[in-house]
Amino acid sequence: MPEMLETRPTRPSGWEQLQYDHRDSRIVVSPHDLWRRLRAQCPVIHSERYGGFWFTSRYDDVKAVLTDCETYTATLGVNIPRQNMTLLPGEVDPPLHREYRRILNPRLAPQVVKQHEGWMRELAREWIEQIANPDQFDLCTDYCEPYAKRVSLRVIGYEPEDLDKLDHWTGVLAAGVRDDEEGIRLSMEFFGHLAATLQRRASEPPRDDIISAIVDGEVDGRPLSLDEQQSLLLQTTFGGLHTTGAVMAGSLVWLAGHPEDRARLHREPMLMPTAVEEFIRYVTPVPHMNRAAAKDTVLDGCPIPKDDLVMVGLGSANHDETIFDKPDEVVLDRFPNRHMGFGAGPHRCVGSHLGKLGVRVGLEEFLAAFSDFEVTDYYALRYNGGEGRGLLTVPMRATPVNGSSGQ
Ligand code: HEM
Repeated sequence: MPEMLETRPTRPSGWEQLQYDHRDSRIVVSPHDLWRRLRAQCPVIHSERYGGFWFTSRYDDVKAVLTDCETYTATLGVNIPRQNMTLLPGEVDPPLHREYRRILNPRLAPQVVKQHEGWMRELAREWIEQIANPDQFDLCTDYCEPYAKRVSLRVIGYEPEDLDKLDHWTGVLAAGVRDDEEGIRLSMEFFGHLAATLQRRASEPPRDDIISAIVDGEVDGRPLSLDEQQSLLLQTTFGGLHTTGAVMAGSLVWLAGHPEDRARLHREPMLMPTAVEEFIRYVTPVPHMNRAAAKDTVLDGCPIPKDDLVMVGLGSANHDETIFDKPDEVVLDRFPNRHMGFGAGPHRCVGSHLGKLGVRVGLEEFLAAFSDFEVTDYYALRYNGGEGRGLLTVPMRATPVNGSSGQ
């Protein structure tokens, strides 16, 4: 589309150099100032990274892209660079998309998810009890991640012993597309494991989990192929593994630095549902997602040629000052809260109810167990980045409710 490319608006002065890169450490560690300035001055910007894509940062533009599936397609991939395997239901457009969603929806509906609350609470308590030294532990690796991942994997239907392997594969693959020998080997192992799990479960009596729903799933009145089953299981596994824990860690870091909010949650526990929504907005563990223009179009005055990739800045949209009052603060009772932490439109997260319950239970149990907690070294905070963004390391000290801190 050369003529259209020529009409690409020149960048405002000061923006000539920026090649937006969601994996760049500056954006991973400290994105908000850049996002704020992009929203104000250059809301749709082209980047030459990864073969080229547009980055859009305003709430209204992000929402427009995600909700208009005729103009923006998911079929050219939702990750930049694209994973070397198709994701279902993420990388199909409506109406076919609905058929795949129908397979997952019943197992992740609110009333079904609610039934898991009892064992989730026990699991959270077990992980809190395992914190050997409350004077010095890592909030992410000792609590948020192991708890949140086990919640998700159990609801999906994996065996507990699968966790370490899945964690390793998804962690490496989520960090970036790997086309080196090691990356190909890891993908093959991961896919082999998904296939073996699905084949084994097809020969066993059905259970009330997601793997059974996938194994028995149908599209257009026919059974799913093994490839389709693998793709559905793949995206559900990815979706659940690195999100809930990231919200919990971000929330607890906020609460560590804001004792007044912690005290308020103790005083007014009924605020928890709005607080969880707000933490998801504030943290936005999936700050980037991708679509492609299905036809020549114009986004916020910027011409986008057909087939060009468009990255939506969910993290930026969730801090858009034209939509949210005090966007960079956590407002525990923010209502309404039209955040897009779970996306928007037909691909809005199918696991949102599980994610919210996982965060709520995880936070409630932590707040009940510790009367006080603090981050001991802010220098040591580390994030992972890309489409997902979340804390990996948070050194913490906490005071147990019934006992003194430390050994
Ligand atoms: C707080 C936790 C979570 C957050 C913030 C989150 C965020 C998101 C976002 C932003 C999307 C939209 C992607 C797009 O538009 O392309 C999405 C989709 C998805 N999520 Fe989640 N997610 C969470 C938890 C989960 C859990 C627990 C699961 C599964 C067990 C899950 C499975 C999925 C799947 C399968 C999709 C694709 C949906 C579709 O394309 O129709 N997510 N998630």
